[in-house]
Amino acid sequence: MTVPQRWPLPAMAFGGDWNPDQWPREVWQHDITLMRQLGVNLLSLPVFAWPQLEPSEGEYRTDWLAEILDALDAAGIGVALATGTATPPAWLVRAHPEMLPVRADGVRLDFGSRQSYCPSSPVFRAKVAALTTILATRFGDHPALRLWHVSNEYGDHISRCWCEVCAASFRRWLLRRHGSLAGINAAWGTKVWGQLYTDVEQIEVPRVTPGPDNPARLLDFERFCSDNVLELFRLELDILGELTPGVPRTTNFMGLFHDLDYWRFAAVEDLVSNDAYPDPGNTASHTDIALSYGLMRSLKSRPWLLIESAPSAVSWRPVNVPKAPGQLRAHALQAVAHGSDGAMFFQWRAARTGPERFHSAVLGHRGEASRSFAEASQLAADLATLAPVAGSRVRSSVAMVVDWDTIWALRPDASLPAEISWHAEAHQHHAALHQLGLAVDSVALPGSDLSRYAVIVAPTLYVTSDAQAEALTEFVRGGGTLVVGAFSGVVNECEQVHAGGPPGPLRELLGVEVDEQWPLLETDEQIVEFDSGARTVGRFWAEWIEPSDDVEVVAHYDGRPLHDLPAITRRRLGEGAAYYVSAGLPLDSLTPWLHQVCAEAGVDVRMSANPSVEVVTRTDGATDYVFVINHAPTPAEARGPADADVLLAPDGDPPVRRASGLSITLPPFGVAVLRMPSTTPSLHHVHSIEV
Ligand code: GLA
Ligand code: ZN
Repeated sequence: MTVPQRWPLPAMAFGGDWNPDQWPREVWQHDITLMRQLGVNLLSLPVFAWPQLEPSEGEYRTDWLAEILDALDAAGIGVALATGTATPPAWLVRAHPEMLPVRADGVRLDFGSRQSYCPSSPVFRAKVAALTTILATRFGDHPALRLWHVSNEYGDHISRCWCEVCAASFRRWLLRRHGSLAGINAAWGTKVWGQLYTDVEQIEVPRVTPGPDNPARLLDFERFCSDNVLELFRLELDILGELTPGVPRTTNFMGLFHDLDYWRFAAVEDLVSNDAYPDPGNTASHTDIALSYGLMRSLKSRPWLLIESAPSAVSWRPVNVPKAPGQLRAHALQAVAHGSDGAMFFQWRAARTGPERFHSAVLGHRGEASRSFAEASQLAADLATLAPVAGSRVRSSVAMVVDWDTIWALRPDASLPAEISWHAEAHQHHAALHQLGLAVDSVALPGSDLSRYAVIVAPTLYVTSDAQAEALTEFVRGGGTLVVGAFSGVVNECEQVHAGGPPGPLRELLGVEVDEQWPLLETDEQIVEFDSGARTVGRFWAEWIEPSDDVEVVAHYDGRPLHDLPAITRRRLGEGAAYYVSAGLPLDSLTPWLHQVCAEAGVDVRMSANPSVEVVTRTDGATDYVFVINHAPTPAEARGPADADVLLAPDGDPPVRRASGLSITLPPFGVAVLRMPSTTPSLHHVHSIEV
């Protein structure tokens, strides 16, 4: 498989954010010398240098940047050139204080941190367009330019603003979406609680209200805010696309970020890049982060780029635990295992000033003597060894539905039967699948090609449209296995409960009707009994469901309050099967149950005896690359096929080859990569690695 056409580099990317604009000139050359020594090939800069690029209105200074780009080019280092628009300069904000963002409670946020802008502000947008045009014109054909890094982490601090300008654009957006004032009233069901609007000007962004707000208004506001930031992104993308059509464009995502619908963002950019900061203080962080890596590789069904990660500690958690020796490498190579074609860091040289002075860097405050520098050097060598992996795909037969309508609608204050969060349910289901050794992709509904998967899991699909139900039905008819979690098919896109109640458009596919949601008190002990005889105490949620005649009950409730009613059902349809799980299952029963479901669906399940060892396979169709990663501070053993070739050996004892197999000893946070001929073009198959 060849590297995608618009990939910025011929090899794995290695480098990070560099902020030479924050350092005197003498440091520049020294840094470049060290970068060459390490094999850095891609740098993001200048992310926050707008005041240096435009020190006063219309006075652009780009010569310093040209000097830096020339020096990097001479050193053979490529640049992800930032458009520098993530933080407007003080002079601009002070001249136009109306561009500062406003909170829901009416407080206008002042200058002094970063991202001090309202995403709708016409002045801000005009100045963003002007700076982007200047940089694209001046540097569009610079030989160091590999990639445009547009803005920075959209929404990190500001994705929503409740100012008057945003309110006016919200009204325009609503009219476009719903056609007319009558359409908005109908969509929001404003006859309830006397909320009827008689003039569109009466509609505001949802500020602080005396009691519960209208759920449809809140959901539309989330959509509007995401679309509004997307419009800002597109403003820059269009300029860059026109002036530098050959240069790929990206903006750095933040994993499963709540506020922005990344399916829509990814659709308009050329490559997906992502910032990932798994918490070294959390032993389950490799599991949690793998869910977002599944999203990143699925957004474009292509390799993505880990454009930011921490060499060691961050500076924004209450307690910022550093990475243990070897963990920099384990974290970086986990991203590569999950489809990133490279690993980059925030940042190259530690800042001595500002809020990030305690954030780790490749060059920590001790410079080349820093532990991070030594560990990054080893990673650079690993990435060079792993060059043949670039462009390959991750083998995955299981996908999870990721849908921002449901993510947004399940707000903690959404007047639901009880609090239920998509993130919590997604992480729970993903943790079970991850423990089964499965790399989980993400799918958009509708939109993604579902037929590539054997199993699709929708942890909860609270908002369900007819089109989504049709896509899922087609998947099951075609032989797929679908697992739908509790509280799915409940409302339509306007948050109106589907006629006849849940699961609405999924009723026929699942063959059940929900009479009532039955949330559990912490003191309730609602038992769920599987047909295998296994029993468990359900978590927080249950439902009174009525199955149709052609549905099998695979688990039922035992004891009060839902005694003998079905808890989990299966409906066979065409070649496939659709499960409905009305109960909140704890991880220790969800995992074995999903094991059985996946095995019956023909998925290669490799239940790991050691959940700290992760096995992920990338393939280019001819060769498979099997990553075996020890995420624990203790050694681990793994065994692979005897004929596997070791592409990347872990530190310490070399793997031992016996007729019975290849024995690998992984030191704490050790990583091995095996290379084997692909036995099947199906992305479902995985090699037998025992851990
Ligand atoms: C984000 C930002 C960076 C930096 C890092 C610190 O990813 O994009 O500018 O603040 O966080 O972890
Ligand atoms: Zn605003």
